[in-house]
Amino acid sequence: MMESMFLALMFTCLNPTVLLAAQTQLIGSHQPIVALVGDDVLLPCHLEPAVSATYETVVWSKAALEPKYVHHKDGRLLFEKQDPSYFLRTRLFMDELQRGNVSMKISKVELSDAGTYKCSLPAMKKEAEVELIVGTSKR
Ligand SMILES: *[C@@H]1O[C@H](CO)[C@@H](O)[C@H](O)[C@H]1NC(C)=O
Repeated sequence: MMESMFLALMFTCLNPTVLLAAQTQLIGSHQPIVALVGDDVLLPCHLEPAVSATYETVVWSKAALEPKYVHHKDGRLLFEKQDPSYFLRTRLFMDELQRGNVSMKISKVELSDAGTYKCSLPAMKKEAEVELIVGTSKR
């Protein structure tokens, strides 16, 4: 009895995935991100300490749009779940995912893009927020 508990505990402690998944945090941005209409903008979000998110489902959402998503990566981008206003305007960085960087780029920012975004890794039960402020240029 004690022995099997000990073994289970040892396994849990020595299993790097379990250990890291428990310790790692998903970090968004404490400061709002500011962009001008027409700009491309990066919404930062990463795991710290870094663990790979390559095989994780990554979901970017925005409260006002739910249940539709801004970006949903589940092996591939699922267009049918995406809010149409973000069609072909969002991307993640495939080479950054392995470093736990799930930041999302939005191209050609529109005024209606402003708001609070949530990046999440549902399987790891992690989420973080990033606020986007969109301004118009004064020219
Ligand atoms: C995440 O990837 C983006 C795009 O390559 C990069 O600009 C950003 O600095 C990266 N963030 C971190 C924490 O590495």
